Amino acid sequence: MRKQIVAGNWKMNKDYVDSELLVSKLLEQYNHSQTEVIIAPPFTSLLCSSNLLKGSQINVAAQNMHFAENGAYTGEISAGMLKSIGIQTVILGHSERRAYFNETDTLLAKKVDTALQHSMRIIFCFGEELADRKSGNEEVIVEGQIKNALFHLPASAWENIVLAYEPVWAIGTGETASPEQAQDMHAFVRKTIENKYSSDLSSEVTIIYGGSVKSTNAKEIFSKADVDGGLIGGAALDVTQFTAIINAF
Ligand code: PGA
Repeated sequence: MRKQIVAGNWKMNKDYVDSELLVSKLLEQYNHSQTEVIIAPPFTSLLCSSNLLKGSQINVAAQNMHFAENGAYTGEISAGMLKSIGIQTVILGHSERRAYFNETDTLLAKKVDTALQHSMRIIFCFGEELADRKSGNEEVIVEGQIKNALFHLPASAWENIVLAYEPVWAIGTGETASPEQAQDMHAFVRKTIENKYSSDLSSEVTIIYGGSVKSTNAKEIFSKADVDGGLIGGAALDVTQFTAIINAF
């Protein structure tokens, strides 16, 4: 079902001790809201974070996982391992995974299938690079990323998919897509899903925006009709900023 989500992607930040501190501060400052709040700490902080958040309304997600069930994949973490510590949600396809770890649409389709087999919810990231936008190709790129990794799925699988539009040129750069640019792309994505599946399904899919969202611009971005929340990087490491973003709805 379509909901409002604010998710914090901590990336490779915060060791075990700092994670406990950050989660404790978040618990102190967070007030109940209609918005679903998710944090995605590094693997080493998943368990301590979810232990601290037990009984709260804040959920914990992993930033990545492997597609295989288990085996000789040194350094990797499987869906079953995440489930075994109670993690139900995973971010897949983040542009940093695509750029630095060569994650392709084909690989992501496999990860998507594995996560769904484990009844996990997926926050699936996609977005164009600056050159694509400059050449007017942003819709072609985004459509391709979504089709290649997700359009083999039956309609029923989509209840476990959250989409995150993250233009690469806006991630960690301080440059945000304008609220209109975000709205235009979200509406385009919804239309693409409607054409493939149905208008019922496309109107139910949660589509969040990511890329330099801060407390100062969140309200305007979230006010757009097809923007259902945000995936927050840098600002999620600062509890005051993050809670202000949650309260921006
Ligand atoms: P940022 O990162 O908010 O620091 O731009 C967003 C993301 O990568 O999810």
